[in-house]
Amino acid sequence: MDKNRILPKHIGIIMDGNGRWAKKRLLPRTAGHVQGAKAFRKCARLCANKGIECVTFYAFSTENWKRPKDEVNSIMKLFGEYLDDALETAGDEISIRFIGDPGPLSDELKEKLRYVTEQTAKNTRMILCIAINYGGRDDIVRAARKIAAQGTAPADITEDSFSQELDTAGLPDVDLIIRPSGEQRLSNFLIWQAAYAEYVFMDVLWPDFGEKELDAALDEYSRRNRRFGGV
Ligand code: IPE
Ligand code: IPE
Ligand code: MG
Repeated sequence: MDKNRILPKHIGIIMDGNGRWAKKRLLPRTAGHVQGAKAFRKCARLCANKGIECVTFYAFSTENWKRPKDEVNSIMKLFGEYLDDALETAGDEISIRFIGDPGPLSDELKEKLRYVTEQTAKNTRMILCIAINYGGRDDIVRAARKIAAQGTAPADITEDSFSQELDTAGLPDVDLIIRPSGEQRLSNFLIWQAAYAEYVFMDVLWPDFGEKELDAALDEYSRRNRRFGGV
């Protein structure tokens, strides 16, 4: 590991490959999600220990409702279980927030999201942001609706003012997107916020993602030359 590496302020992680991890072991896809949830807990702690300010994990997309009902239900159950002990993980260091449209989630889950957000709001070491029923296009459409409802004059809509209506309001733009599982796409994750992100695609399946993989992605990020359109 390079001790002088430049750290991203905000990392986005697409937790992909749970199903293939399970399939390789002849296990049900659900077993992959259980293992994926463990990798997520570990990775969140690692990010905090490494001094990352903000990390957003893509847990469930607006498109993932297309999956079999049983799989969706077991993923929702895992969220509930995670939220039950999230306060312990957060301690007095991690502030947990959620992005995405909570509308279609169960009332029980919505209440847990609200409670965890409120209880950890004062923590300052790291923001752990979890994307549940999140879609980048949906985020943009909901922001546009809020602006329209406020009756804002067209000329007063700027990139900054628009950003402040997105679910990620107040968070820095995402600097680094990590996607394991070998797929090289964004799948509707943070499409506005990642306009100038660096992408690191990795072949590892998410349940096998650990410190070695996180360090490799951070080292790769540190070697990139970001120009933002300049020279
Ligand atoms: C990511 O793993 C978990 C979610 C999208 C909820 P997948 O379930 O997509 O795993 P693969 O891509 O089928 O291997
Ligand atoms: C992206 O993974 C969504 C999450 C990881 C939550 P998918 O497995 O749903 O993405 P596609 O279908 O391969 O694009
Ligand atoms: Mg997938």
